[in-house]
Amino acid sequence: MAKELSPLQTERLKYKPKLPEALKAKPKKLGAKKGKATRSVADQAAIKALFPHTYGQPEVTFAEGKAGLNQEPIKVGVVLSGGQAPGGHNVVSGIFDGLQALNPKNKLIGFLGGPGGIVDNKILELSAKVVDAYRNTGGFDIIGSGRTKLETKEQFDACAANMKKLGISSLVVVGGDDSNTNAAVLAEYFATNGFGINVIGVPKTIDGDLKNGAIEISFGFDTATKTYAELIGNVERDCLSAKKYWHFIKLMGRSASHIALECGLKTQPNITLVSEEVEAKKQTLAQITEEIAMVVAERAAQGKNYGIILIPEGLVEFIPEIKALIAEVNELLSHEEATFNSLQGDQARIDFVQSKLSALSKMAFASLPKGIQAQLLAERDPHGNVQVSRIETEKLLAETVGEKIAAWKKEGKSKAKFSPIGHFFGYEGRCAFPSNFDADYCYALGFNAAFLVGAGLTGYLSSVQKLTKPAKQWVCGGTPLTSMMNVERRHGADKPVIRKALVELEGKPFKALAKKRVEWAKEDAYLFPGAIQYWGPTEVADVVTETLKLESK
Ligand code: FBP
Repeated sequence: MAKELSPLQTERLKYKPKLPEALKAKPKKLGAKKGKATRSVADQAAIKALFPHTYGQPEVTFAEGKAGLNQEPIKVGVVLSGGQAPGGHNVVSGIFDGLQALNPKNKLIGFLGGPGGIVDNKILELSAKVVDAYRNTGGFDIIGSGRTKLETKEQFDACAANMKKLGISSLVVVGGDDSNTNAAVLAEYFATNGFGINVIGVPKTIDGDLKNGAIEISFGFDTATKTYAELIGNVERDCLSAKKYWHFIKLMGRSASHIALECGLKTQPNITLVSEEVEAKKQTLAQITEEIAMVVAERAAQGKNYGIILIPEGLVEFIPEIKALIAEVNELLSHEEATFNSLQGDQARIDFVQSKLSALSKMAFASLPKGIQAQLLAERDPHGNVQVSRIETEKLLAETVGEKIAAWKKEGKSKAKFSPIGHFFGYEGRCAFPSNFDADYCYALGFNAAFLVGAGLTGYLSSVQKLTKPAKQWVCGGTPLTSMMNVERRHGADKPVIRKALVELEGKPFKALAKKRVEWAKEDAYLFPGAIQYWGPTEVADVVTETLKLESK
């Protein structure tokens, strides 16, 4: 950590996250109240067979006057997994303080560089001095993160052996859907083999796609969308001042469009694409292009040769012909990986894949610019996902819309002047100083995770609910990881994974956008949210996301 601190860093270090009342009770008077037994969201028989020890566990809520939490001294491990999300450091400080509340002799050990750090036994003891320097800061740099997928018996055994040597009896995995799938598999493996190591997850991801009845929002989504919305608002103002560009803004978020939808609601741009809608309507690339070009032409007819369009980064995965193409390529690469990797250069790889595709996918592949073809073939992440952040969809659409407008101009159908500029807002939002909401939420998630450890549970995700209420009233407990699982095709095989929560077209946030978008396409209804505020009126400094507000109505 650098020695010099910015004025904001100095002030934020002093911030005391608000702790829910439920977590303030004396640990000896607090117990985990069991709710109803759970079942997985789908494929119940398959998931039950794969997770005999951790399947079907009940939801739990912390309540006073029950059995009491374990107060014997313990050592707990923590690992940060996957992409950074604002608030990770507060999860760590929350775990630390939660463990201290259980017993001041408790120790917290950080595994360095993500799950690979557990296998390689790379550790840092998280003392009060270390933790204090990172309170309320963005980033995961306190211990680093990584995307190593834990899947082999050797890896699991190495994890268990290293933790046993260190005397660690519980591990907290801070991660998204894939990392928490890892956590569920580890919990089951440790239980099956009687290793005596419990595993608790914490729902992290800016993407907002790890949510369900018990998880209202994943941490980091609030800050990331506020950061992107600030930038979008600034571009909107620039657009309105210069009146000469169409800004094509791709937003991070993987497959789900939660980020684009939230930013659309916050900034009211002319177009917000939602991948889930594209899939439901089975819209082809040509149709999406035409729809955008129509708005460009209609605005041009009003003398407005400018505008803003938001594009979710996972869009290509939802365009039916490209979705089928990606599925074929994934299957192909899983079987012919060695041959594919032996080929030198993009063209050779493109030709190889082209020669193996079905007629329809061949056509879809051929219709894409070469740059996009190469990006579609780029290495998958360790969980088998296409790395959509590397696919320049903003450029693809600017190009196809440009071609359409040029054709209409030739036919005398439009006089639009079309000057596109592409942006990608992604990494800019992942390590911002957590908003007050994320600072409080993450601290509560971490503190709560420590109490789940104290309750002797395993295979649970830390759950803090009723988030639109003041933090004091938040409800804390745990939800079983297996209850979120289903079976999906990954790397050419069926695997148990936590199901991603995509945007629901019947949900209130999407409906709110759909209701206004015709008006927003025509008008300049831009909203300028401005920068995240840490102090000031509560309706500014503590505001929650539009998604959360609408979903909790
Ligand atoms: P996870 O939270 O699921 O790890 O993903 C967050 C994310 O920022 C995605 O939005 C993005 O597609 C991906 O990570 C980028 O991955 P990387 O950091 O490896 O470039």
